Parts: sequence; structure tokens; C-alpha cells
Amino acid sequence: MDRMRRFRKNEAIRSMVRENHIRVDELIYPIFVIEGENICNPVASMPGICQYSIDRLHEELDRVCNAGILAILLFGIPAHKDETGSSAYNENGVVNQAIRYIRKNYDSLVIIADVCLCEYTSHGHCGLVKNGKILNDETLPLLARAAVSYAKAGADIVAPSDMMDKRVAAIREALDQEGFTEVPVMSYSAKFASCYYSPFRDAAGSAPGFGDRKTYQMDPANGREALREVEQDIFEGADFIIAKPALGYMDVIKDISLHYNIPIVAYNVSGEYSMIKAAAIQGWIDEKKAVMENMVGLKRAGAKMIITYHALDVAKWIKEAE
Ligand code: PBG
Ligand code: ZN
Repeated sequence: MDRMRRFRKNEAIRSMVRENHIRVDELIYPIFVIEGENICNPVASMPGICQYSIDRLHEELDRVCNAGILAILLFGIPAHKDETGSSAYNENGVVNQAIRYIRKNYDSLVIIADVCLCEYTSHGHCGLVKNGKILNDETLPLLARAAVSYAKAGADIVAPSDMMDKRVAAIREALDQEGFTEVPVMSYSAKFASCYYSPFRDAAGSAPGFGDRKTYQMDPANGREALREVEQDIFEGADFIIAKPALGYMDVIKDISLHYNIPIVAYNVSGEYSMIKAAAIQGWIDEKKAVMENMVGLKRAGAKMIITYHALDVAKWIKEAE
């Protein structure tokens, strides 16, 4: 009989046999950019997270760079919403302006632009709406248009989060046609209809005005179906696969990593962040230990990169441990 405790005798041995690590260059930090001036609005349900106007974005971007984080994921909150989400693809929309500003002033940052309509539509859905239904094929050209406008503004990667069928193909084709063959698509492939997005919907002002997202986002009960979503997106030309939420869906991340040879990005979502923050504020949990345990758990499951609101703290803790 083997004695497994031989591996655990002291920290040096534990560190030699440690199978997974999280590195700063694997972290992606989400940022909310709001139209307007001199704004730094704390998001009540996400302690530590704010919406920034472009003129104050440098406060957050300086923290990102000082932490050694290489990549950010941008979400826009427009002043103007309409039926077709036109601020998502208007070249003077808030995200396009933010991308140009960041490209100019923080050139080395990897800019990932979230592509969706829900922050920009008056009804708050991720696609066009007609008679209470979320239209699929009619939405595709708008998503493609948004992706191309972000690439033109200087985004490095586009990340469609809408869950319309065939959007990766539509976006890939539009990017290629406009000469952006080198802009990768990071697709939210396995995105579940989760209650853990609710703090984000406060942050992005994107809660659906009627109904829910269950006709386009996945049923939380389905793991095998997630593999078909991934297969479809790879077939359509996705370069990276996002799985989301992360913590309750580690089995999905594991399954994807066993089936496909493509970088997997785990999205540690807003509700997962807020739960830890809430417990830490109460003194019920050690924030650093809980977060780092979750991070390494996602690596163990098979994630290559992690999108997380904890990124600034995680980067700091990684550096402290070095
Ligand atoms: C928009 C989008 C959402 C998230 C990322 N992109 C919300 C949603 O689908 O309602 C959630 C992120 C989070 O909770 O942190 N399509
Ligand atoms: Zn959306």
C-alpha cells in the first residue's frame, strides 16, 4: 500500500509535486466603460468594481498595468439605447471610443471586446426582438457589424456572448472580408442561463426588460449539449472557447478540455465574485485563500485562462508569493 502523505511532508515537497499553478499572464480583467464624463460609479452588488467614463479609465488601466495583467475584457454602457442596439456598432459608441483611447495610450494591453446587444438594446435582450421573440438570423449581421467596428477601432480579440446560432461564422466571415483575418474570435460557447449573472446586469445595465434568456443561453442541466456548442463554434472558426459560469460548471470545462485541443477560458462570473466578497466582508471566509483555491481549481479542470473580477488581487497575491 502506498503512503500518499510522503508527498505532503513539507512545503518544499508539496511545491515540487504541485500539478497546477495560476500565472498573471493567464488572467483577463473585465472593465465597464460608461458614456459620460468624470464617472467612477461603484457597482453596489460588486464591491471593488466601478463603471468608468473614458476620461477616468486611466485610473483602472494603470492598476491593470502595474499588476502585470496583459488582457482586459471591455463592456460598454451607452447613454442611448434603442430597439436594434445601434450604440453597439456605431463607430462613436462608447466601446469604440474606449478601444481607440486604450489603443493609443496603453498600446501593449490586449483588448478583448465583448460582442453582444443586451447592453445597448432598450429591451435588454442579446438579439433583435419581434413579437416577444428573440430573432436569430436577423441578429447576425448586427453582431458582425459590432465585431468589425471593434476590430477597426483597434481591438485585438472579439468575444461574442450573445448565444445566437451561427454567430461565430457570421463574425469570422465579416472580419475576413474587411481584412481582419488576424483578429481571433473568443467565443462564449458554453454559456448557461445562470442566476449568477445578476450583479453583472446591475453593472452593465443589461437585465432583460421582459422574459429571460432561456431561449438562447443553455440549460444548466446540460453538459453533453455544451460539447455540441463547442464543436459547432470550432467548426465555425472560433479560436478560443469560453465556458461560463465557471465554478458550478467545472465538469463542463473538464469535458471540453478532454475533447478539444483549443485554449479554454473560464469566466468566473459576477455572482461568483460577489458571493466571495460578501462572505469575506462578513469575516466568514478568507478571501485570498478562497479565491486562490477557486483559481487553481479552474486550472485543474482544464482552463488555460481565467476571466475574473478578482484579477487585480490575484495578480498581487501571485507576486507576493514569488
Ligand atoms: C452579455 C454578458 C453577460 C455576461 C457577460 N456578457 C450577461 C448576460 O448574459 O446576461 C455575464 C458576466 C458576469 O456575470 O460576470 N451577454
Ligand atoms: Zn447579451
